[in-house]
Amino acid sequence: MQVSYLECTRCGEHLPADRPQNVCPKDVGVLFPRYDLASMKGKFRREDLRGRFASMWRYAEVLPDAAPVTLGEGFTPMLRSREYSTVYIKDEGLNPTGSFKARGMSAAVTMARHYGLKKLAVPSAGNAGGALAAYAAAAGIEAHIFMPRDVPIANRMESEYFGAHVTLVDGLISDCARMVAERKDREGWFDVSTLKEPFRVEGKKTMGYEVAEQLDWKLPDAIIYPTGGGVGMIGMWKAFDEMQQLGWIGSERPKMITVQAAGCAPIVKAWEEGKSASEMWSGAETFAAGLRVPKAYADYLILDILKQSGGAAVSATDDEILSAVRHWASVEGVFAAPEGAASLVAYRKLLANGLLRAEDTVVLFNTGTAYKYLDMMQAQEKTSPASPRNAPGARNIGGIIGPY
Ligand SMILES: Cc1ncc(COP(=O)(O)O)c(C=O)c1O
Ligand SMILES: [Zn+2]
Repeated sequence: MQVSYLECTRCGEHLPADRPQNVCPKDVGVLFPRYDLASMKGKFRREDLRGRFASMWRYAEVLPDAAPVTLGEGFTPMLRSREYSTVYIKDEGLNPTGSFKARGMSAAVTMARHYGLKKLAVPSAGNAGGALAAYAAAAGIEAHIFMPRDVPIANRMESEYFGAHVTLVDGLISDCARMVAERKDREGWFDVSTLKEPFRVEGKKTMGYEVAEQLDWKLPDAIIYPTGGGVGMIGMWKAFDEMQQLGWIGSERPKMITVQAAGCAPIVKAWEEGKSASEMWSGAETFAAGLRVPKAYADYLILDILKQSGGAAVSATDDEILSAVRHWASVEGVFAAPEGAASLVAYRKLLANGLLRAEDTVVLFNTGTAYKYLDMMQAQEKTSPASPRNAPGARNIGGIIGPY
């Protein structure tokens, strides 16, 4: 087992990685897998990656040493923006099941199979459930998924087609999490909730390795990441530390920037108030379903990363997000999930307020594909003044346009 131990991010406690673990038994802190990077230094080199297959498992030395359950996740394109010459769009929409969640679930299900687990459960805002269902199907493991009733249709249908047991919940991901917690012992489920399972973050961290490798080992000045539970951001930050320990990069770090939907922005609120943890957001509402996370389990880690990196937390309204989806599609040829397009909104705001300069190299994460959100977007179009369809007189041009 390549993973030396699991370490609590709160109290530093070490736990063995040879059996399934959730969180620190002492203080319920998030557990991070740790490797013997010091002895890998000089032996595992950047050049060793040349010619390896284009998936996240190309970084095998810093991932758990178990037979991967893979569907070809990772090593997604780093597209140079056609609109801004110093901006890149990391397009996670090309992953299996259409979002970056594939990375975390590939790693988590790999370890679940390695440990011999037979039943997994997860609360999900949508895409994590779909991704778990796919990898569980590939591994021949049972998946129990709890998602809000009003998730995008794609999430519900993909989960069912992949053969998962889907429970639709009248509530948010936090209500789903409570249901998993209440039932898991009785049902014999292993909980793979974001950051309550140590290996999803390992899959996600490969985004950090890819950013470095694809930009020829020079990290960008800033990374903008749509943040719900925050694993993407936390994983990349971990990757940067690991790469420094391996001698692949120096101590420089990008400004890490969180973007959230204005209708559910607990991290933005905590950041603006200078707090080190967030409060449960009440009345969470946004069509960017993956950002409807009223309280991130690892909020303390996210806020710490923003602070350490000199970053920021910004919110985007649903109207701003919808028009950014349309803008990216028409200007870049990228049909981004609402969560991903929120990154563009944040980029513009930070250029305007001076935190970012036009010459800064910035990576905007498109975390998923719009093809999974057609129903949500259609509904949003109906109300949004940002939609050209709702411009005064639009309905008179060329006859009938709606209903959608
Ligand atoms: C497309 C998309 N982007 C971003 C997020 C937020 O990710 P995280 O919970 O890792 O912060 C999600 C979560 O469901 C998502 O589906
Ligand atoms: Zn602890």
